[in-house]
Amino acid sequence: MTLPSKAFAYEAGTLTASGVDLRTVADAHGTPTWVYAAERVDAAYRSIEAAMKRAERGGTETLIAYAIKANGNLALLKRLASLGCGADIVSGGELLRALKAGVPASKIVYSGVGKSRPELKLALESEIRAVHVESESELKLLGEVAADLGRKATIALRVNPNVDAETHPYIATGLHSTKFGLEIDVARELVPAIVKDERFHLDGVSCHIGSQLGTVEPLREAVTLLARFALECRELGAPIRSLDVGGGWPLTYGNEKAPYPSDAAFGDAIGEGLDEAGANDFDLITEPGRSLVGDAGALLTRVLTVKDQGGKRFVILDGAMTELIRPALYQAYHAIVPVVATDAETHDTDLVGPVCESGDFFARGRAFPSVSEGDLVAILGAGAYGREMASTYNARPRAAEVLVEAGETRLVRERGDAESLWAGERL
Ligand code: LLP
Repeated sequence: MTLPSKAFAYEAGTLTASGVDLRTVADAHGTPTWVYAAERVDAAYRSIEAAMKRAERGGTETLIAYAIKANGNLALLKRLASLGCGADIVSGGELLRALKAGVPASKIVYSGVGKSRPELKLALESEIRAVHVESESELKLLGEVAADLGRKATIALRVNPNVDAETHPYIATGLHSTKFGLEIDVARELVPAIVKDERFHLDGVSCHIGSQLGTVEPLREAVTLLARFALECRELGAPIRSLDVGGGWPLTYGNEKAPYPSDAAFGDAIGEGLDEAGANDFDLITEPGRSLVGDAGALLTRVLTVKDQGGKRFVILDGAMTELIRPALYQAYHAIVPVVATDAETHDTDLVGPVCESGDFFARGRAFPSVSEGDLVAILGAGAYGREMASTYNARPRAAEVLVEAGETRLVRERGDAESLWAGERL
């Protein structure tokens, strides 16, 4: 069976990751459990690092700031940090998580359309690399916080370049019709006052046009607009050092009609976008999320029930939308495979969870081989936006998380217990 994943493969008829038989993971840790293949994260990081080398045009350093919203597991963050990776955060919680995992504050950038006063205070006190300002009112608030603390706020202006990323509407962020960033015309007007204001150091400009970029052109176009704007800012006296081109590096889930461009092609497009603008000395930042961790992760589940009803087969798994909501929320596709390879006949199957919602499904109408109660099933491409978007709906404790590496398995987050479901509540 060919799998879209580079992390999971059948060996002697059983699904493995980093040489670990997933049956042993289920035996040791139960199900549902997240399995992350450590070396795959490293390889994904190296691939983007190499691609960014192709993009570089005379700056002094490039920062890969992992969008930790994709998966903030501390062990994964620590591993990425050890490779030199920084973090793109969107909340105070993510800031504390990144710091806890050992990401240096000087490699943390803070995006997000709504940041509270305490969050901005924490960001300035932590001396992160830059707060990405997304509105005029946020700039005002940040100025107040900086003045209160007697600190200068290092900022980047996040612009919305009005470029269509041609992706799912829920993950497109670069059009004016979305809530993200500042229109370039609006941002430009803010620059002279920022330059004069002692409370700010305008260090960069940034944008993120969306996730799962299917072609390189929208990114190239956005980079050109971003770089032109950065050069304009310099003319207005701003000491712009960094261009942050956002995330969007695609992940192959397995249902694509055509393959995604390679990381190298995205790197080349970024470089070409810079050339088009005549920008040759900016430091670069990119904010990949899913491409670093998505392929490395699978949700390991067990079949609870099989039933035929309404002309189709339902395979009811012990994992649910509470673990992986992407299919329910975006009709997202994830490859799903039995852990023990089989040549059993396939049926038109809905693979679903036990949650009391018709929307609780991983796949509908999928040709899936016959499985029996107790069999293990793995949902692939699930390392990003899985556990991070998980809930405890239906009083389902959160799943365990394990890291596999060089044939070894390590529990990196305990399964939630009943107590954890009502922690903090009062009778
Ligand atoms: N930078 C910013 C400012 C972002 O908002 C995002 C994602 C990224 C970087 C990383 O994007 P990535 O490289 O992972 O595509 N829950 C959705 C994805 C929401 C993405 C939000 N922003 C999903 O499961 O597809």
